[in-house]
Order: sequence, then C-alpha cells, then structure tokens
Amino acid sequence: MSKIYIETYGCQMNEYDTEIVRAVLQKDRFDLTDTPEKADVILLNTCSVRENANRKVFGRVHTLKHLNNGRKVKIGIIGCMATDFKQRLLKDPHVPVDFIVGPDSYKRIAKIINDSVNENIKGFDVKLSKHETYEDIYPVRESGVNAWIAVMRGCNNFCSFCVVPYTRGRERSRSPQSVLDEVKKLVDENFSQVTLLGQNVNSYSYDNKDFAYLLNKVSEIDGIKRIRFTSPHPKDFPDSLLNTVAENPQVCKHIHLPLQAGNTRVLELMRRTYTHEEYLALVDRIRSKCPEIVLTTDIIVGFPTETDAEFEDTVRILRMVEYDSAFIFKYSERDGTLAQKKYADDVPEEKKTERIMLLNELQKACSLQKNRAHIGQVHEVLIEQDQTKKSENDIQGRNDGNKLVILPKDGHHIGQFVNVEITDATAHVLKGKVVNIK
Ligand code: SAH
Ligand code: SF4
Ligand code: F3S
Repeated sequence: MSKIYIETYGCQMNEYDTEIVRAVLQKDRFDLTDTPEKADVILLNTCSVRENANRKVFGRVHTLKHLNNGRKVKIGIIGCMATDFKQRLLKDPHVPVDFIVGPDSYKRIAKIINDSVNENIKGFDVKLSKHETYEDIYPVRESGVNAWIAVMRGCNNFCSFCVVPYTRGRERSRSPQSVLDEVKKLVDENFSQVTLLGQNVNSYSYDNKDFAYLLNKVSEIDGIKRIRFTSPHPKDFPDSLLNTVAENPQVCKHIHLPLQAGNTRVLELMRRTYTHEEYLALVDRIRSKCPEIVLTTDIIVGFPTETDAEFEDTVRILRMVEYDSAFIFKYSERDGTLAQKKYADDVPEEKKTERIMLLNELQKACSLQKNRAHIGQVHEVLIEQDQTKKSENDIQGRNDGNKLVILPKDGHHIGQFVNVEITDATAHVLKGKVVNIK
C-alpha cells in the first residue's frame, strides 16, 4: 500500500481538512508517514488566499520532486488551490503535479490516488458541493489539547477581494446534534478545548438554529473547559451571540473581528456590508457586554483606489479600537474575484509597503502596551507545548484571551491548567510563573 505524506498550508480550516483526509485514507488502509522522503505519495493541502501563498506551493512542488529524484513519487494538490487551478495545473508541463482533489471531494481521494499510482492517470475532482460537511467523518487529530470542528463550510459573502467563495463554494452547516456528539467524544478523549470553525462561523444556520444556539449547547457539555470560534464576520453579531460569549465561562473571551479597512467607501468597494461607524458601534457593544474581551483583527492595505486620506481612516480606527493584535496584509489581486474584474491593482507596491509598515509599527506598540498591562495579574493558562522555540526548559500555553504565555517547565505537562502570575511581556508573548496548581 502507498505511503502518504501530507503537508498543510493556509488557515485552520485546512488543518482540520487534513485531519479529515487522514481519516479517509486510514479507512482505506493507506499508511501515513511524517517525512516526505519516505512517502510514495505527497499531498499538499494548499491555500490560495494571496499570491505568495500560491508561490510557496509551486516552489515546494519543485523542491519535493527534486528531493525524491529517481523515486516514483506522486504529488497531489488538494485544498484551495485545487479549485483555482483545475486542469491548467495538470496541463502545464513545468508543474509536476500528478492529481488534484478539491476541498469537497476528499471522500473520493483514495481512488484518485490509486489511479495515479497504479495506472499513471492524472485525475482531478474539484467539484464543489452544496451539502458536503464531512459530519459523518471523525477526523484523525494530532494529539494535543485543542480539537478543531468545522461547523460550517464555504462562504456566500463574495467580498470583492476574496477567492474563498470560489475555492470553497457555498455556505452549509452541520447539524447541531452531530457537533454535540463529536464534542462529547472529544471530552472522553481528554481534549479540553474545542475551536468551532467556519469561513463565516457566525453565519452558522441549521433548521433555524443559529450560532448562538450552537455555542450555548456546546458550553452545556460536561468536561469541556474552553470553547473558541473563528472567523466571525462583523455582520452576524446579534445580542444573543454576544450574551452567550459574555455569560458562559467556557466560551473564551476572544473575538477575532476582521476590519479589512477603516474607510466606508473602501469598505463598500470591498463589499463588506458594514460602514466604519457600524463596525465601531459593534466594538462598543462587545466591550460594554464583555469589558475583558481580547479583540484581534485582519486588515488589508492598498485595496484598489485607496487614497492616503482613506488609509489614514484605517490608522485612526486601529488607534481607536486598540486591538490586542492584528494581521495586516497587502492587497493581492486574485483571479476571478470582483475586485480583479472591476478595478486595476493601482496602489503602487512601495505605497503598500509603506502602509503595512506603519500599521505594523503602531500595532506592535499597542500590543506591547496591552500585554504589559497584564503584568502582576494571575491568568489561567492551558499548557499546549512542553518546550518553546527558544528553550527546552520553558513551556508554553495560552490564556483565555488566546495570548501566548511562556513559563518555566518545573514538571508541568501538556494539557494541564495552571494559574500563572504574569511577570513580563513583549508585543507577542506574556511571561510568568505558576502561583498554584489547580
Ligand atoms: N473568512 C475569513 C477570512 C479568510 S481569509 C473572514 O471573513 O474573516 C483571511 C484574511 O485574509 C482576510 O480577513 C483578509 O484580511 C485577508 N485576505 C483575503 N483575501 C485577500 C487578498 N486578496 N489580498 C490580501 N489579503 C486578503
Ligand atoms: Fe472571504 Fe469575505 Fe468570505 Fe471572509 S467573508 S471568506 S473575506 S468572502
Ligand atoms: Fe487559504 Fe483556503 Fe483558508 S484560501 S485562508 S486555506 S479557506
């Protein structure tokens, strides 16, 4: 039987999908390996959200072919680039890809792999489904403390810059019962945290049950200590959802609230469906219900026609909201999107660089100030890794607000909840020491 190696790019949804693919492959009795050198088949679970994500994968395909020179290794592209590139990738002789499987076709991946290995057939299946949620497949998860569960897939928003509605198709949600059954099983397997996933997780809808209903139900399950969710869209925050976040101790006090731009004209061109005033009103509503909330965001600089003055509006909102952290991206034109069809990518690269540097600098100062304000407080930390990038004597975990916390190892272990007094902070991490163990 072929040995398979999977490499994952992109967002948490792709990480989750890799776990679905592992489950399908194991059921079909393939062996999985964790090094490309030992593999007969290499799957790249790809992202296509920005051009450099695509570039990275093309580079990797060539490296992997070279790495396995002389051996008959098959390379398959799965995930978001699959839909995007379809047959073009197969026809381009410079891209040594053997088969392509899109994000809704993973149940059929075994046959495509076998056809490729046994008969050298260049198969592809990138059909998007209105119904596939994989709710009947129990993912093969990495051991650890967090379990992803995709509760909805796809996106109907068609923000003008974004390729996701094309790569992942229409919105569809899993039944609440299937989610609750899975969370119960996860608790039995000692996972103490679940993260509910969706491209627009708060658009979740199943038989008139909305995301607040689902979140409430999940938080009633015995033994689940932390519930996170990502990514929500600012358009779907009814009070019922905010109350659920504010009132349930198991629901972590962190909301990722993508702003994208701080100017209403630009937001309109982006088709984000909110004005900057509406966004700020939502921030106020969130903070009045839940003052301790950690807020993070995504911002795009250099959207077509964005002027210096309009960019300044983004700067102003960044200063006003004071996010705990922000992911800031340069606009990257994507084939097939509305923005690509309607507007020239006319903000010069240097301008985009200037804008991203300015925002990153401002955000870094803000993150540092916010993190330093935690010094002296005691936070409950769930330990996630038994070493850090810099030291084998330290361990790391996250507090309720999803901030990384580093502390001395001192015999503590992954999966443990500890109370940590914060003694130091940078813009990216909190540092501290355990004050007592729960
Ligand atoms: N579904 C999520 C976003 C997924 S993509 C949501 O709506 O929040 C993650 C982030 O990538 C987006 O929030 C956006 O900031 C960024 N992004 C998406 N398309 C982009 C593009 N064409 N250029 C630059 N950044 C982009
Ligand atoms: Fe993309 Fe917008 Fe959908 Fe998010 S909501 S995935 S940014 S189209
Ligand atoms: Fe990338 Fe697809 Fe996620 S395009 S960001 S992997 S939904």
